[in-house]
Amino acid sequence: GNTPDREELLVADATSVDEPIPGAPGPVTHGIPVVGAAYADGLALSQAGSTAFVEVLPAETRTDHNVIAELPGSNPDNVVMAGAHLDSVNEGPGINDNGSGSAAILETALMMANSKPENTLRFGWWAAEEQGLVGSADYVAGLPEAERNRIALYMNYDMVGSPNYIQMVYDADQSTFPAPVAIPEGSTAIEDLYESYYTAIAEPYDDTEFSGRSDYEAFILAGIPSSGLFTGAEEIKTEEQAAIWGGTAGEAFDPDYHAAGDTIGNVDPRALEVNSDLIAFAMLTFAYSTETVNG
Ligand code: PHE
Ligand code: ZN
Ligand code: ZN
Ligand code: ZN
Repeated sequence: GNTPDREELLVADATSVDEPIPGAPGPVTHGIPVVGAAYADGLALSQAGSTAFVEVLPAETRTDHNVIAELPGSNPDNVVMAGAHLDSVNEGPGINDNGSGSAAILETALMMANSKPENTLRFGWWAAEEQGLVGSADYVAGLPEAERNRIALYMNYDMVGSPNYIQMVYDADQSTFPAPVAIPEGSTAIEDLYESYYTAIAEPYDDTEFSGRSDYEAFILAGIPSSGLFTGAEEIKTEEQAAIWGGTAGEAFDPDYHAAGDTIGNVDPRALEVNSDLIAFAMLTFAYSTETVNG
């Protein structure tokens, strides 16, 4: 069950209700223990010796699966990979985050299913991204070194149809995980491909940093060139961005990010269309050559 237990603890030296109480058990949100709302029984929590109560959600264990699909090319030793997380948060159905990226790579896979490309194409629908990039990290960790070396590049698609979107490309020059991490050489070639496509169809784009908030992380840390597309989550659209992309300044790129409202109505069809075409274009391009990435 998922009913919170009420646990009592003595406040030894709490200074603020917002501060986690050292040693306090907490509710488990998405597998990550956090200290829950503490409230005093008539006494201020700032007062040593007062009693606080925390709501404790019992831990849950669930099984989730990555879904991996591969289309053999003429060259089995040069694998081009695209991925999108298939899970969502408990709070909502997760259609923009991340039905959008999952559907886009599925469409690409179906489009290419009857072809025999030069390179081997591999698609990953990741499990448990929202629990801390669990599926993609497990996948990369489970690859023997020889298997990792066969992967020429990885393209990540997490939120590609945000309702108040801007078009962003992961920038090979910007990374924080939270410490700065060196992005593998070759990532620039993927970034350049996306950007030249947007330019060719007269779509504006901007760079976004590799923040470690999505499934590219394990690939980059393994030295596999990576990039991807992103149309924005909880960040607020500026006046300048609204002048370029339209939409509403002062509102989040996705006002229903991680919320019950992330339904089929929460996807901008134009952004999804443009990005799905680009996602297919990038896979098709690298299916025939990864020379720009490999040097
Ligand atoms: N990975 C985040 C999520 O699934 C979305 C995100 C992607 C946020 C990239 C910032 C940068 O919720
Ligand atoms: Zn999410
Ligand atoms: Zn996501
Ligand atoms: Zn760029």
